[in-house]
Amino acid sequence: MTPKTILCVVGTRPEAIKMAPVILALRAEPWARVRVLATAQHRAMLDQVLQGFGIVADVDLDVMRPNQALSALTARLLCGLDEVLKAERPDLVLVQGDTTTALSAALACFYQNVPLGHVEAGLRTGDLRNPFPEEANRVLAARLASWHFAPTAGARDNLLREGVDAGRIVLTGNTVIDALLMTAASAAELDLGVDPARRLVLVTSHRRENFGAPLREICRGLRELAQRNPDVQFLFPVHPNPNVRDVVHQALADLPNFILSEPLDYARFVAAMRAAHLILTDSGGVQEEAPALGKPVLVLRDETERPEAVAEGVVKLVGPHAQGIVDHAQRLLDDAQAWREMARGVSPYGDGRAAERIVQALLGDFARCA
Ligand code: UD1
Ligand code: UDP
Repeated sequence: MTPKTILCVVGTRPEAIKMAPVILALRAEPWARVRVLATAQHRAMLDQVLQGFGIVADVDLDVMRPNQALSALTARLLCGLDEVLKAERPDLVLVQGDTTTALSAALACFYQNVPLGHVEAGLRTGDLRNPFPEEANRVLAARLASWHFAPTAGARDNLLREGVDAGRIVLTGNTVIDALLMTAASAAELDLGVDPARRLVLVTSHRRENFGAPLREICRGLRELAQRNPDVQFLFPVHPNPNVRDVVHQALADLPNFILSEPLDYARFVAAMRAAHLILTDSGGVQEEAPALGKPVLVLRDETERPEAVAEGVVKLVGPHAQGIVDHAQRLLDDAQAWREMARGVSPYGDGRAAERIVQALLGDFARCA
């Protein structure tokens, strides 16, 4: 078989974390010529991840602007991606997830008639506007993809319901668990002044639909929780988006038991998850990782496209509502039995071999067509 050029596109922190195992696995294959395209929809946070996994991008579009708007970002991405596809003519493009980078790359592939593989395909809430714009991004990317790498049986079923050919769907598990296991083995130091003798609550929040009043309401809940529990430490690595950073710092910076940090590199964030007693988050990736580490998660959203861990009882939706946050978190801090029931250590999203399954599926397909 002649070598196949596979262009792996990454734009944001979670895409890079979840694509890294695929890039590294493909690089070990003699038949694959791997090219990495960083759109840099995120600049610092993308570089942080790529560096952590020892990946250097072959092409960098450097599209990020401060407080970027979706339409302008999409336009920059589409024009840049189109040029790269014309120059590189890859045999396949791989995109991950539901970001503007993933959708723009899918559309650019359609325009340039380049086959597309979608990693983490089939997640759905069923509400096109929620989460915004991610649900629309992933629905549209699926419509344009030739390969669908579904992390769970539920994701595969969602694709089948939308009429995707069963022969084009591969059930792989989520590559985030591959990344987590690769990283957890390296045991980074957390430092940041966290006292190992005190319980730690880890917090992240960055969703676009929570900007404004919902994020202020989340912060109100966090503030009350921290004031009620002076013996508990809170660590919040704050997303650099000004819509998040300014609100969070204004609401929480004065609390003595709240550490507001810069985004942590992945190894340190994994160390923070391992050290945590409880995690409060609106992140998609953290909902997938924390159950595998046996950490209870309260999700600061009203819905999720990741229902498997909720069904297992190890993740709970509490919404962006102060009272719900305080009540649920306080119960887990006070009631050891309730905490144990949510700290069982289940991994409904993967077994650490998702990248291997993606590589095998691609090899099988290229070999059949050779
Ligand atoms: C994006 C994704 C979201 C994903 C999230 C992961 C879209 C529409 N949204 O949202 O699905 O969950 O990434 O974190 O694709 N910024 C920096 N430095 C960085 C990264 C971001 O300063 O390294 C700031 C910039 O001001 C930038 C802003 O954050 O304009 C927003 O970045 P953007 O990628 O548009 O949105 P996110 O909210 O990060
Ligand atoms: N993460 C990280 N450093 C941090 C916060 C999160 O490395 O300070 C990791 C986390 O472990 C997960 C990913 O970033 O793998 C999730 O990214 P994010 O929450 O930004 O996006 P989402 O998953 O919601 O799209």
